[in-house]
Amino acid sequence: MKQIQKRALITGITGQDGSYLAELLYDKGYKVFGLIRRTSTDPLMRIEKLYFSEKITLLNGNMRDISSLERIIAETRPDEIYNLAAQSDVGISFSCPEETFEINYYGVGRLVNAAMRQNPKVRIYQASTSEMFGKTKPPQNETSQFQPVSPYGEAKLKAHEDFVKGYRERYGLFICSGFLFNHESPRRGKHFVTRKIAHSLAKIKLGLQKSLELGNLNARRDWGFAGDYVEAMWKMLQQKRPADFVIATGQSHTVREFVEVVAKAMNMRIKWQGKGEKEVGVDDSGKVIVRVNKRYYRPREVNNLRGNSGKARKILHWRPKVSFDGLARMMAVEDLKTVARENGLQYKLN
Ligand code: GDD
Repeated sequence: MKQIQKRALITGITGQDGSYLAELLYDKGYKVFGLIRRTSTDPLMRIEKLYFSEKITLLNGNMRDISSLERIIAETRPDEIYNLAAQSDVGISFSCPEETFEINYYGVGRLVNAAMRQNPKVRIYQASTSEMFGKTKPPQNETSQFQPVSPYGEAKLKAHEDFVKGYRERYGLFICSGFLFNHESPRRGKHFVTRKIAHSLAKIKLGLQKSLELGNLNARRDWGFAGDYVEAMWKMLQQKRPADFVIATGQSHTVREFVEVVAKAMNMRIKWQGKGEKEVGVDDSGKVIVRVNKRYYRPREVNNLRGNSGKARKILHWRPKVSFDGLARMMAVEDLKTVARENGLQYKLN
């Protein structure tokens, strides 16, 4: 018997997670659609291989515009929707709280309502986040208290309460929240700390930049590889019943440690000197290559995130494949290659 091809709609398809998820679903035989917001710059960078080989279909729409969402859902008739569209920068959410709520809360409501009206059986994945745990001490799991400290975390929490838990209980909608802890890759935007570190250290290594400025070096995060995490998103929508899952590695490291492992992968050594705002990272020759700049401090900070993904391991049979060192090395190697290529330099990492 011929199997009916499943149809998936991804919002936020041009982002890091959207690109990995589009590849995964295409490889699994899905017909993949992506919602794309028209901008004056080219947003296709991460998905152009899939787009130009006609493996995915992109449709213009906007999370602020319910009529565009209704039209796209009517045209694509998705069995599964992955809502990855967001104002995803925690730091920016302090200066743009309204915009953050507009997309991360109201946008979710528009999408979920439009989807449910057209197909009450649709399955929806909502990108929730470890940022919702905020001040709660690690390890954080599905039953931990939510205590967000940023407009980003607050908007995501409200979307989870109202449209994930709320619609599941009220309407029996198949909708799942993934509380994903930080997940990174060479495709990460350069304003997130891991990619900022990898990209800047690559430029420093190649003599194109003098130093790197960071904010809070003591913040601890549970960093995994984005390619592993999108698989968990898909697995959640294949279960009999909808449920929420923490997706994490179970290990945390400081920003300072991330600098050290990336530097090591680039054959550089960093020694730390001084304290607080005066702390600097010095290389073997005594040059200061890392500084602290208050500008990158947040008004309120989440100091310590480390997830317990026991439920996902047990029910979804999901586990992370890439280690912390492996992730740092992957990002270091890719950024050295990219920076060298962009600047017409030859570089080989031994
Ligand atoms: N971005 C940034 N830039 N962060 C810095 C810097 C810097 O120069 N210096 C120190 N940090 C610290 C931040 O204060 C934070 O504690 C930590 O590095 C991680 O920051 P980000 O990489 O910006 O990620 P995030 O933890 O705020 O949020 C990311 O992960 C969430 C999952 O928990 C984002 O991807 C969110 O969208 C996601 O939900």
